[in-house]
Amino acid sequence: MEFSHTPVLLQEVMDLLGCSPGNVVVDCTVGGGGHAYEILKRILPGGYLIGIDRDPNALNAAEKRLEEFANHFTLVHSNYINMERILEDLGIKEVDGILMDLGVSSHQLDEKERGFSYMQDASLDMRMDPTQAFSAYNVVNEYSQNELRRIIRNYGEERWADRIAGFIVDNRPVETTGQLVDIIKRAIPAGARRSGPHPAKRTFQAIRIEVNQELSQLGESIEKAVKMLRPGGRLCIITFHSLEDRIVKRAFRDLSNPCICPTGAPICTCGRKPEVKIITGRPVTPSAAELSINPRSRSAKARACERI
Ligand SMILES: C[S@@+](CC[C@H](N)C(=O)[O-])C[C@H]1O[C@@H](n2cnc3c(N)ncnc32)[C@H](O)[C@@H]1O
Repeated sequence: MEFSHTPVLLQEVMDLLGCSPGNVVVDCTVGGGGHAYEILKRILPGGYLIGIDRDPNALNAAEKRLEEFANHFTLVHSNYINMERILEDLGIKEVDGILMDLGVSSHQLDEKERGFSYMQDASLDMRMDPTQAFSAYNVVNEYSQNELRRIIRNYGEERWADRIAGFIVDNRPVETTGQLVDIIKRAIPAGARRSGPHPAKRTFQAIRIEVNQELSQLGESIEKAVKMLRPGGRLCIITFHSLEDRIVKRAFRDLSNPCICPTGAPICTCGRKPEVKIITGRPVTPSAAELSINPRSRSAKARACERI
């Protein structure tokens, strides 16, 4: 299957990163290389790109997409939480820009056998990194009812989490995404199913986040990323749901205002200094033109900060 993913907020992200020739940039979620391609156009001559992804299929696609820039980039199969070590191994001490385009790619969603989609019947998988042992099968069939309720409520913001968790436990073993969708549909009362998004959307999001530990690693990864930026270097993050956006917003706020002195204290005694300046007061969202050609961009939000 050909790798297809339309990069979101492309021009906006380029403006936020402000790349120029000679820059060294890390694309933490290189995917099919759509953003990376535009970054490379702007940092050459003299620049270099490091592209990281957990998914070897994505890296293969990026390798082809970026072919014309051979020798000016390195692709690494890893989790972006390992960025410090990846850069150290490459002998790079600091970089000019870092991009994180979070979540799954359209390609991962469309590749039926990966089990990300509630629209197609496949085995329960949802691993971004297929070399990882832990999959959606383990979450759905091995978590306690309480744990299932917790992740479906917290990561899916699903009001029927309690009933869905109970129905899952009563219907184990669950082997396929199709079976899981049926269980979720039975758990949600018919009246509540009539409007809004697909009834399985929130639960699938929750299980995917748990399988890939998407939220637990994000805050720490942002702190690490900022430390790798040179003064004036920029970090830009694209999120696709409110839980991710909240973590990014909070991390940027804490890094830009780390003072922990009591409110109202006349002078700062904690001595903590801001590490970044926030450059997007409000998050940047897709234009009407982008929404009309790429409906999957509708929940995208970009935020950026600059190392002081
Ligand atoms: C939305 S896509 C990126 C698309 C890319 N910007 C492009 O233009 O093609 C997100 C990618 O991030 C990868 N990913 C998600 N979390 C990751 C992590 N913690 N470490 C490394 N890669 C990750 C996924 O495998 C996926 O390929």
